[in-house]
Amino acid sequence: MKQDRKQVQKAKLTRSQIARRWLVFWTLFIGIGAVAGAVMMLYDPSGKAMGMDALLPYFQVLPFADTLFQNYIFSGFALLIVNGVTNLTAAILLLLKKKSGVVLGGVFGITLMLWICIQFVIFPLNFMSTIYFVFGFCQAITGYMVWVFEKQEAFRIDISDYPNIGANSKHLVVFFSRMGYVKKQAYEVANRIGAQVYELKATERTEGTLGFWWCGRFAMHGWAMPIEPLAVDLSVYDRVTICTPIWAFSLAAPVREFCQQAAGKIKAADYVLVHHTKGQYDSVAQEIDRLLGITHSSCVSVCCRKSVFLN
Ligand SMILES: Cc1cc2nc3c(=O)[nH]c(=O)nc-3n(C[C@H](O)[C@H](O)[C@H](O)COP(=O)(O)O)c2cc1C
Repeated sequence: MKQDRKQVQKAKLTRSQIARRWLVFWTLFIGIGAVAGAVMMLYDPSGKAMGMDALLPYFQVLPFADTLFQNYIFSGFALLIVNGVTNLTAAILLLLKKKSGVVLGGVFGITLMLWICIQFVIFPLNFMSTIYFVFGFCQAITGYMVWVFEKQEAFRIDISDYPNIGANSKHLVVFFSRMGYVKKQAYEVANRIGAQVYELKATERTEGTLGFWWCGRFAMHGWAMPIEPLAVDLSVYDRVTICTPIWAFSLAAPVREFCQQAAGKIKAADYVLVHHTKGQYDSVAQEIDRLLGITHSSCVSVCCRKSVFLN
């Protein structure tokens, strides 16, 4: 019973929550390690207690080595401040669910990488420096992931913002959307012209991180992805607006399948293409034309980054 509850709790974690937990781990791991190292350096500035006295000569290439690096006092304070207090502060902010904790957690990953770069310059190549550089990289990437995932998960569409949808029975807006960005564009177009809306649903997995990679597989091969049976008679509409995401610089696989099924059934069409990178994607409009056997009247290309539409 207890285990069941635990499993449900685990299943409910969003991608941002999982990434946030990892960021807490990194900030605590690096922060506590740095504080422990700094305490040891300040406890025994000669470095003998940690077996680091033999490393002091390497520090002599640094500026002001005569005064700062004859023992580990300055290094200890520097470690405490640069990697210790900073990371522990970020961990506390993360645990308090503050947004600043995410930014600081990621930034302190970069700080750790810069710190290790100094070690790369003064020490011969060694395992500890290399592995901590990798840790810093992981921490920075985790911070970025939390930041992006939280933005993605905060993206919402409120149907009550689109009261005009469905007023015009002769115009249909068809769309496929994984994360809701294309859906928002589709609703805005439909609301503007009063069109009806039809959402394409893939029968393959498209949601979440696994879904992303699965979609990528279809995209890279240029395959069509099976969709749920079409529950709309396309021939009754004077015009159809097709809204699609761009996948691997091409038409999204479920929309490719739709176009194949819709060939010869659509009288007039226009397209809305939504993508992450800047670009027109004329070749995608041409592919839809080819599949449908018509020539589109207009095509709008929309760039969407981190849940924000840029044009
Ligand atoms: C498998 C896959 C491949 C993608 N490839 C591209 C690409 O080549 N160029 C691009 O600009 N965006 C690409 N994207 C990003 C989507 O086009 C973009 O995030 C779009 O807004 C997704 O809309 P949706 O979340 O409503 O489906 C890709 C997305 C996925 C899932």
